[in-house]
Amino acid sequence: TRRVIIDTDPGVDDALAILLAFGAENIAVEGLTIVCGNGADIYALGANARLLARAAGFPDVPICLGDAPEEGAEAVQDIPVHVHGADGLGDMATKYGRSEADRSGFDARSAAQFLCDACDAAPGEITVVAIGPLSNVAAALVARPDLPTLLQELLVMGGAVHGEHRGNRTPAAEANFAADPEAAQAVLTAGFRSVILADLGATHQTDMDVLRRACVEELPESGVARLVYDVAQVFIDCYVRTFKQTHAPAHDVVAVMYLVRPSLFTRRPARVEVELQGSLTRGASVADWKGRWGRPLNCEVLMTVETEPFVSEFVAAIRRLPRT
Ligand code: BDR
Ligand code: CA
Repeated sequence: TRRVIIDTDPGVDDALAILLAFGAENIAVEGLTIVCGNGADIYALGANARLLARAAGFPDVPICLGDAPEEGAEAVQDIPVHVHGADGLGDMATKYGRSEADRSGFDARSAAQFLCDACDAAPGEITVVAIGPLSNVAAALVARPDLPTLLQELLVMGGAVHGEHRGNRTPAAEANFAADPEAAQAVLTAGFRSVILADLGATHQTDMDVLRRACVEELPESGVARLVYDVAQVFIDCYVRTFKQTHAPAHDVVAVMYLVRPSLFTRRPARVEVELQGSLTRGASVADWKGRWGRPLNCEVLMTVETEPFVSEFVAAIRRLPRT
């Protein structure tokens, strides 16, 4: 069993990823750390996390908030379309019982502190799955520069280094890296033992609509399957109708699925860094596959995904929820 902390900005695809982790037999979710992203405020995102934890049967999992970004930071600049709904959960948070009370009662520790404490308490045993902007992980690195030696593995959903898409927030930059480019660059170059990158090239191979339909068809009695279905609606509509894409990718689910069944993926080692300067390309991820920069490899990029077992593993995890 992998001991996992999910660093997240929930988030429709975050929601599905979190439920997958709670339902997976080989994952123990030890905490959720919340990072600002997806156009909702940090307390609302924390409340979404609480809603999901409760739905999954883990009401007491620690939830730690990250710092609110400074005014004017990229993470809080207006996102023109509410990809995730105004509440971050496809406008379904109220239907699924999110209340004002959920906006309190978080763990007193900051997200960065929790990450450091967990690694201190169990060196080499904790895996972090980062599925939002990398601000919390970068803050933890400032506090504990030796964090890379303490973590077992780091999974990151972010960037765009292969496939058709180079950016979904700007023409050149994927949303998580665009929200905090300095954090993404700091984390990628920090020397973590093992970094797995689920970029847009991997995530666009998955289809959120296929995932949610499989859930309700195979689990007609399941409230969690219904939640998955409902929460996904706005996100899917946005990708298909507004962005004119063929389908809505299940971005963040890919990172968690790698932990559940790594054999569904092929990987390629690379040196990936993030552009911090370019007036057109700030936040862009660049992969050196061939060692031209002369710098050490820093991650393995997920290249291909076996899509059918991806769906069945997801449904199998949802079937186990809520766990009691
Ligand atoms: C990433 O951006 C967010 O909107 C999603 O939750 C995902 O983490 C995809 O680029
Ligand atoms: Ca996310």
